[in-house]
Amino acid sequence: MPDGFASTEERATFIAALPKAELHLHIEGSLEPELMFELAQRNHVAIPFASIEEVRAAYAFSNLQDFLDIYYQGMGVLHTEQDFYDLTAAYLARANADAVRHVEIFFDPQGHTARGIAFETVVAGITRALDDTAASYGMTSKLIMCFLRHLSEAEAEATLDEALPFLDRIDGVGLDSSEVGHPPAKFEHVFARARGLGLKIVAHAGEEGPPAYVLEALDLLKVDRIDHGNRSLEDPALVARLAAEGMTLTVCPLSNLKLCVVGDIADHPLRTMLDAGLAATVNSDDPSYFGGYVNANYQAVADALDLSRDELLTLARNSFTGSFLSDADKARHLAAIDAYARPAPRV
Ligand code: ADE
Ligand code: ZN
Repeated sequence: MPDGFASTEERATFIAALPKAELHLHIEGSLEPELMFELAQRNHVAIPFASIEEVRAAYAFSNLQDFLDIYYQGMGVLHTEQDFYDLTAAYLARANADAVRHVEIFFDPQGHTARGIAFETVVAGITRALDDTAASYGMTSKLIMCFLRHLSEAEAEATLDEALPFLDRIDGVGLDSSEVGHPPAKFEHVFARARGLGLKIVAHAGEEGPPAYVLEALDLLKVDRIDHGNRSLEDPALVARLAAEGMTLTVCPLSNLKLCVVGDIADHPLRTMLDAGLAATVNSDDPSYFGGYVNANYQAVADALDLSRDELLTLARNSFTGSFLSDADKARHLAAIDAYARPAPRV
């Protein structure tokens, strides 16, 4: 019996409605095969798949690069402002169904501008969906623009230039794509400029790359959060520092499994992170490619590690404390978790 629950079914019910924030979600990674086919038709784009089943069968990855090759190809069906709206609206409906009350969405502008899609088209479609959703679901959001680390720092600088007219809608910058061989140090100057513009800073680090990349993200990029961070566990001094600084890690269990960062979900280090005092959170990364949205990630890791009620509450609390919401908004969400955790009064 899981600690704090009468049964695993009771734990599943608890996870389903637990108020949570999602802090690591690539909007292009939420492109479901059904929408991919619809947009390919709408935009007369050829895709190398004959059926939805064929697409799903192609989602067998042995590392990050395997996935990225398919991910960049998949986003090629996104052309118009309406496409970006439809993509974002579909994700937000799924998130709402998973009791996500706040979301911080990544997008990869260079994956689109390199194909001739205007930066403005991408931002306009995503933000129109965010605005509509805020109105209909009461869900809040932040938007984080990621630089592709396999490209040059000069290209990241040009992307930051393109973002300048839209900074009222962009809350932060991040660093994603092929990690090994592209350390945070490569982007020190562009992140310093982003910080100077008042943007929040995050970076993928320690997903496949070594603990030294996490250190660079802290010391050179001066990140507000680390995305993934798994390999930090190889360096006890780094773990102690991350814990002492209260640095949030946006952990993605099903992503880690599908990209072979862990060999088995039962070997996932999430509990080790919590036990070490790390502010870990649970997120879906690229849910269409990795087999599940945020609740599926909570569920998979809860089942595999037999997570307790207290551990699940800690994860949900960490998701709000690690967000870029104001202190007042964080307090409101934390109070909602406290209310959810209180047993219902007996009548
Ligand atoms: N882009 C989309 N998902 C990613 C991941 N998990 N790691 C690095 N880059 C990404
Ligand atoms: Zn990611």
